[in-house]
Amino acid sequence: MGQEADRVNRAFIAAVDASLAVVRLPIPGTSWWRGLQGRRYLERFMGGLVAEKRRAGGDDFFSQICHARGENNEALTDQEVVDHMIFLLFAAHDTTTSTLCSLVYRLAKHPHWQETLRREIQGLGKAEVSYDDLEAMEQTGLVFRETLRMHPPLPTIPRRAIRECEFQGFRIPRNAAVSVVPIHTHYMPEYWSNPHEFDPERFSPERAEHKRHFFQWAPFGGGQHKCLGLNFAEIQSKVFLFHLLRHYRVRIDPDYVMPTLVVPLAVPKDGFPCVIERL
Ligand code: HEM
Repeated sequence: MGQEADRVNRAFIAAVDASLAVVRLPIPGTSWWRGLQGRRYLERFMGGLVAEKRRAGGDDFFSQICHARGENNEALTDQEVVDHMIFLLFAAHDTTTSTLCSLVYRLAKHPHWQETLRREIQGLGKAEVSYDDLEAMEQTGLVFRETLRMHPPLPTIPRRAIRECEFQGFRIPRNAAVSVVPIHTHYMPEYWSNPHEFDPERFSPERAEHKRHFFQWAPFGGGQHKCLGLNFAEIQSKVFLFHLLRHYRVRIDPDYVMPTLVVPLAVPKDGFPCVIERL
């Protein structure tokens, strides 16, 4: 996409940043105003592709959404397709890139785990990974879960109370803003042994620490709006690690601790200075 990719990226970042704006008025120069500009750019960009996607009918998300049918066999309108695509950029792409970054950080920080995964991947004896191989990548699965525990891409999940209720002695009025906070739950000593330690084996079938409470591990949310793409995210992360670790070693200073921005999405504040060496 060349330069267009940069423009889409900038527009997208502006739209995401605007979600944190306190002053939500279209005053030029403010983050809300930049977000609206970004949103409009994204709508024009995605809107310009819809007709072609409707014609071509590939197996990518965009084409599939164009051809999706509702309960009464109705197609989505162009605007609905565009809205879904912009939402997916955030829900699917940004969350996964945050996860991949945290995975690289944890593997650089814990070289023995990096070697364990490399051995597992090399043990498959393949240059390309297939869907059936993914299940055999058990250790990689454990590292994926532990990384999401320590670095949930959505550290907080905003909600509103639909009716007045009480929680642990606190009265929560109807319509009050409430947050589900995985970054807190994921470190609660009631549920996790040594929560600040990177210990992927806590997710092993023998230890199964994550099964003490249904909602103690919630990187993908829970309930009716639980992430639709959780399996897809695991597939993408395993495929990424398969290719990365077969060819490269990642290193960071052993004392380095990744400073993370927590809203609206977990990303390293410092651009994550790691070294990537060819094996
Ligand atoms: C590691 C990567 C991912 C993480 C951590 C993640 C996390 C989440 C969370 C926490 C929610 C619930 C939000 C809420 O309750 O307000 C959610 C919803 C959603 N996610 Fe993901 N997600 C990831 C990857 C993906 C991918 C790859 C896709 C699509 C392929 C996807 C599609 C969705 C959709 C469509 C929803 C909305 C579901 C609904 O409202 O009914 N996500 N995700």
